[in-house]
Amino acid sequence: MKPRIAIDGPAGAGKSTVAREVARRLGLAYLDTGAMYRAITLAGLRQNADLHNTAALEELTRNSELDIQSAPNGNIIYLNGENVTEDIRLPEVSRNVSYVARCPEVRDILVGKQREMGNRGGVVMDGRDIGTTVMPDAEYKFFLTASLEERARRLAELHAKGETLALEQMVKEIAARDKIDSERECAPLRPAEDAIHLDSTALTKEEVIESIVNRVSGK
Ligand code: C5P
Repeated sequence: MKPRIAIDGPAGAGKSTVAREVARRLGLAYLDTGAMYRAITLAGLRQNADLHNTAALEELTRNSELDIQSAPNGNIIYLNGENVTEDIRLPEVSRNVSYVARCPEVRDILVGKQREMGNRGGVVMDGRDIGTTVMPDAEYKFFLTASLEERARRLAELHAKGETLALEQMVKEIAARDKIDSERECAPLRPAEDAIHLDSTALTKEEVIESIVNRVSGK
C-alpha cells in the first residue's frame, strides 16, 4: 500500500502548501482537513447559526453536503454543490472556525469522512489531529511549526488579496485560534508521540518539502 502521511501543526506553519507539494511529488492524494471545518463554519455563518450551540452545529454538519476534489493548486471544496474554495479563506471564517472545530459532534462526522480517505492509503493529510486521531497508524507523521510572528507574517501575506489584516492583528487572531485548538477536549492540536518535528521559521518551503520527501523516499 502507498504510504499515508500526516502533517499537523498550528495555523500558518505552511502545512497546506507543503502537504500539497509533497503529495504531488510522491504521486499521492492530498486532503486539506482544515478546509472541511472551514466549509461548515461558512455554512453556519451564512445561516446565522449559533456557533456555540452543539445541537445546532451537529445539525448543520449533517445537512451540509461536502465534496472535495483534487486540483493542481490544492483541494476544491464544494458546499451543497457550490464552489466555496475562496470563501472559506475569508477572515470571518478564520475567526470562527475554532468554535466549530471544538464541537465533538462536528469532529465525529468530519473525522469519519477523513478516515474513509485515509483507509484507501496513498494520501497526505494536513490538519491538527491527523497523527493522533484521524490516522494514528500513518506510516509518516510530521509536526510542522514556526514562530508565532513568522506564521502571522505568512498568513497576512496570504490574506493580502482580500481583506488586509495588520500584522499585529494577525498575531492576535492566530494566537487565539491556536489556544482554542490546543486547549479543546476533543482531539486537541498536539504532536503525535512518534511525529517528526520540523521548525520552518528559518527554512524555505522548498527545504521543508525536500526534508519530508527525502525521509519518505528513504534518501
Ligand atoms: O488548517 P486551517 O488553518 O485551515 O484550519 C482551520 C481550523 O480548523 C483550525 O484552526 C482548527 O480549528 C480546525 N481544524 C481542526 N482539525 C483539523 C484541521 C483543522 O480542528 N484536522
